[in-house]
Amino acid sequence: MSQTFRAIVVGAGSISNAWFKPLAEEPVKVVAVVDLNLQAAKDQIAKYELDAIASDDLDQTLAEIDADFVIDLTIPEAHCMVCCKAMEAGFHVVSEKPMAASMDEARKMVATSEKTGKLYMVSQSRRWEPIHDQYRRSVTNGQLGQLTTVNCDFYLAPHFGGFRDQMQSPLILDMAIHHFDLARYFTNADPVAVYAHEFNPHGSWYKGDVATTCIFEMSNGMVFTYRGSWCAQGCGTSWNGHWRIVGENGTILYEKDQPPTGEVVEKAEGFFYPCKDAVIEDSPIEHKTMRGALREMLTFLRDGTKPQTECHDNIKSLAMVFAAMQSSREGKRITIEI
Ligand SMILES: NC(=O)c1ccc[n+]([C@@H]2O[C@H](COP(=O)([O-])OP(=O)(O)OC[C@H]3O[C@@H](n4cnc5c(N)ncnc54)[C@H](O)[C@@H]3O)[C@@H](O)[C@H]2O)c1
Repeated sequence: MSQTFRAIVVGAGSISNAWFKPLAEEPVKVVAVVDLNLQAAKDQIAKYELDAIASDDLDQTLAEIDADFVIDLTIPEAHCMVCCKAMEAGFHVVSEKPMAASMDEARKMVATSEKTGKLYMVSQSRRWEPIHDQYRRSVTNGQLGQLTTVNCDFYLAPHFGGFRDQMQSPLILDMAIHHFDLARYFTNADPVAVYAHEFNPHGSWYKGDVATTCIFEMSNGMVFTYRGSWCAQGCGTSWNGHWRIVGENGTILYEKDQPPTGEVVEKAEGFFYPCKDAVIEDSPIEHKTMRGALREMLTFLRDGTKPQTECHDNIKSLAMVFAAMQSSREGKRITIEI
């Protein structure tokens, strides 16, 4: 029987519905649910039949409740405050993406993790998808040679209503973090610089710039081009985007959430070299999305293994978001600084 850990959940909004089931499955005992809206905390405790206290007082809960870690499911603007308080109070923390609402806040969170010696990781849920792990393993197993080019297309037309319709950069700030992080995950490359152009297409129902093209220079000289819009009617891509990764010896595609397919050079002769099917690797991932993130936290608690989205790593994905927005506003190439 594996050890049962205790957790404090902060934020009882819509994404908490994706967390309480995995928490019960592991099992992790939720000992407190904190929300500025006390009724929201009470409602989730009742809905998921938790033996937990409800509170709207984070400081008091952190001071009085014994737990192994804190799960921050609040809005991005609150992540820095909630996570730093939790680490200062002696808790390890996993938070929802995005890490923070600014790079200054994110740097403060990394510094707080270093100062307190507490782990801070981000749940970047799309990393824990077997098909994404398959793609990553297939493009990095050596068959493509050195990777040179990564393209991601993301075109959908959701009518959200609410806060996204009012944001200045809804696509880059609220969605592209997933794709930027996947680009790093698939290729093991880190961002170096970006030139981005955001725009708001004619007929858009968004106030801010909801479409973009971003050209990232990545480590090893690789170029990652991201084209996206949340205001593109018809012929939609998957929410994960449609991907093409090219290396010196071949190409592997990942589109429409279907298993990756690709071709690698078989013989170096002729006008177009003959190709054969690329090897598509299997993935050992059993537990997806939030449960995958949670299991990395529990593994850390058991044996100290650092999660892949520990804050020193995840801040690099966040930096891509803020550098792209800065580039678009200033109309120039921006060097990405962590
Ligand atoms: N992984 C994914 O695919 C995915 C999907 C949706 C949302 N998210 C992320 O999850 C987070 C929450 O999103 P949501 O859709 O649940 O938002 P939400 O607005 O539905 O819920 C947020 C909750 O946090 C509470 N809250 C805000 N500030 C607080 C504070 N200082 N202390 C305590 N409680 C506070 C609010 O009262 C609210 O109940 C965001 O960071 C969002 O980007 C991730």
